[in-house]
Amino acid sequence: MDDLASVNGIIGRADEMTIPITDEGLLRGDGVFEVARLYAGRPFAWDEHLTRLVRSAANVRLEFDLDAARAEVDALLAKAGAVDGTVRLLITRGGRRVAVLAPLPEQRASVTLGTVEYAPTRVLDAVKSLSYAANMLASRLAREAGADEALLVTPDWHVLEAPTSAFFYVLGGRLHTPPLEDHILDSITRRHVLTLSRVAERSLDRAELPRLEEAFLASTTREVQPVAAIDGRALPAAPGPLTAAAAEALRRYIDARTR
Ligand SMILES: Cc1ncc(COP(=O)(O)O)c(C=O)c1O
Repeated sequence: MDDLASVNGIIGRADEMTIPITDEGLLRGDGVFEVARLYAGRPFAWDEHLTRLVRSAANVRLEFDLDAARAEVDALLAKAGAVDGTVRLLITRGGRRVAVLAPLPEQRASVTLGTVEYAPTRVLDAVKSLSYAANMLASRLAREAGADEALLVTPDWHVLEAPTSAFFYVLGGRLHTPPLEDHILDSITRRHVLTLSRVAERSLDRAELPRLEEAFLASTTREVQPVAAIDGRALPAAPGPLTAAAAEALRRYIDARTR
């Protein structure tokens, strides 16, 4: 089936839908978005995604019609049927509600990471904004350096997250993740892992990376994805036992809510 999209409620093939070039969502990346995963047509944690979208929009002073957005995504999903993949919902500064269905990107059993220096834009804290060029460039730079994905590290050496996923690590036999105060995204998958597994929030210094016992990325599309190496240094196991347990706990939680 062709991927479908909706622009302010008009549904069509995703590759044929258009928005005016004057929309500042395009011209300046000014807008907010969410991506939820579809399991046989059901969006997982959709209410949490919509709540975060509302907060993002409020933080960038962008008004939109939440009820209309919700109804338009419902209509799009009804038309698509029991598909697996993702639903992306964008709210642009030009006042457009854009919903796009897409297949899931190909997933490796594990990933290698390369550190890329990155300074989060403070004014965009708690905003999942459309301005993702820096994140996309970080992934490209990591791939140029021979890794699968970037691990974002601040100029003063704090390890943050990956460009589109949260980062978890095992040190001293315990599972940790950097705190939101380090200016990372309040990832919905991260929240679930924090609830389902025993995790301590703790900042990570780049100098500690060689001592990690396990690590994984967590996101809507990846769920839990083991990290095999960072900057060319292999981790002892991918997945290690705490990663495997976190992945299993999340899998069961999602299963129970999308059945
Ligand atoms: C910067 C960043 N961190 C983390 C995540 C993971 O968030 P979620 O679990 O809500 O998909 C994303 C998702 O796109 C992201 O863009």
